[in-house]
Amino acid sequence: MSEPARRIPPKAMPYWLQEPRPAKLSVRTPEQDAKIANRVETLLTKIKDRTAIVGVIGLGYVGLPFSVEQAKVGFRVVGIEQNPERAGRVNAGDNYIEDVVDSELRDLVAKGKIKAVTDFTTVPEMDILVIAVPTPLTINLTPDLQYVENVTHELAKYIRPGQLISLESTTYPGTTNEVMLPILEKSGLKVEQDFFLAHSPERVDPGNKRFNTKNTNKVVGGVGPNSQAVAVAFYSQAIDKIVPVSSASAAEMVKVYENTFRAVNIALVNEMLLLCDRMGLSVWEVLDAAFTKPFGIMPFYPGPGVGGHCIPLDPHYLEWKAREFNFNTHFIALAGEINRKMPEFVRTKAARELNRVGKAVSRSKILALGVSYKRDVGDWRESPAMDVIKLLLADGAHVLYHDPHVPKFRGHGLSMECSPLSDEVLAECDLVIVLTDHSAIDFANVAAKSKCVLDTRNACKTIENRDNITLL
Ligand SMILES: NC(=O)c1ccc[n+]([C@@H]2O[C@H](COP(=O)([O-])OP(=O)(O)OC[C@H]3O[C@@H](n4cnc5c(N)ncnc54)[C@H](O)[C@@H]3O)[C@@H](O)[C@H]2O)c1
Repeated sequence: MSEPARRIPPKAMPYWLQEPRPAKLSVRTPEQDAKIANRVETLLTKIKDRTAIVGVIGLGYVGLPFSVEQAKVGFRVVGIEQNPERAGRVNAGDNYIEDVVDSELRDLVAKGKIKAVTDFTTVPEMDILVIAVPTPLTINLTPDLQYVENVTHELAKYIRPGQLISLESTTYPGTTNEVMLPILEKSGLKVEQDFFLAHSPERVDPGNKRFNTKNTNKVVGGVGPNSQAVAVAFYSQAIDKIVPVSSASAAEMVKVYENTFRAVNIALVNEMLLLCDRMGLSVWEVLDAAFTKPFGIMPFYPGPGVGGHCIPLDPHYLEWKAREFNFNTHFIALAGEINRKMPEFVRTKAARELNRVGKAVSRSKILALGVSYKRDVGDWRESPAMDVIKLLLADGAHVLYHDPHVPKFRGHGLSMECSPLSDEVLAECDLVIVLTDHSAIDFANVAAKSKCVLDTRNACKTIENRDNITLL
């Protein structure tokens, strides 16, 4: 007798083969519907007349500029910042983020428009809660959502009906729905009925003089129509243009796609650099000429690697999530691999330059010029300069650094203080490696006073006498 055909239980089937689940029928009374509509209306009114109180959780590179923009249009902002030193500085009107204008923060704090607290007990007083906490990677390059989860658990203890919660931290598609929503509903409140939930990725580009929190288009995706309506209304108050998308997951995908786009294009020019080096061509010349084409190309430049809180991390959030769908994101893996190789190439090229003048790396004094991950900011987290310094130290070099934006740093197993950029220091060093092209640095003087310059950013582009300058 043949065995009856066995059916695979739906849960064991891959997601893309499962049949769509029947929609849950919600049976609400007209009174309940009216109560929900009233809740939406009340919040919309508070948003439009700007009497809503805005809580911003995490007052860092994203949270502090965002708080200032909200306060500037009239909202009262309460920052919840777990670092008591940062909270104290905000309350003293003492700015610590480059993109924030010192006097604006001072005035808004003096007027009582912005204050900071260090715990969540005031959450019930707020109408809108915006989350801007870190989303790093674990050492195995998987998402580390501990900050988002901790904040969500804290919120679940204190939320009340009528509030909007919006996640701004960059993360993989599904975080708002699959991670935050179940935690928040443990409070007993229901999304779309009692509280509203959205994702609106922050796209701020620290140090960018043209685009800031206010004039950078804001993508907004709610977990349902009520959430979408209140979130769009809220963000429209202080931000010039809103781009609504159909879901929180779509909004999450927009941001990780944008950062993946950058990571992949930077990897492409970095790979071109490695090839041009072997072929005896200058990648910088090739790119400058290529970017004169008025269509079909977009400038990206090579360098010592990628850094900051976005490009080296966010694509790996998507890579990790894609595996759940039996999908390999080849571009992300390849871009990460190429970009992570660049500090090694800087080390190789530094050794080559020193070798040319008969110096061993282990007997050399090297100045790392610029340690932040990009021009005109002081953020050195994830900066490729850290890897370059570590590699040169491992080779026995004596390494100093200068960075007008980073007086000292401690991290990545390093603890260093900024050296002055004096003519004596420049003359003493066997090699100066330009790792960040800060506009405050006089590169002409650097080139004139140094024995040898390895320029990883083409910062010395306009200098005519180039005998001692080598491009990466
Ligand atoms: N920095 C950028 O250029 C940038 C740009 C766009 C998006 N983002 C994303 O925005 C998010 C925040 O980045 P950031 O650069 O502002 O980080 P940050 O480290 O500068 O600031 C985060 C702040 O959150 C605080 N914090 C952490 N856990 C907390 C908690 N439980 N309660 C209260 N405060 C807490 C930290 O003390 C810190 O001050 C990340 O997801 C990042 O990827 C950053």
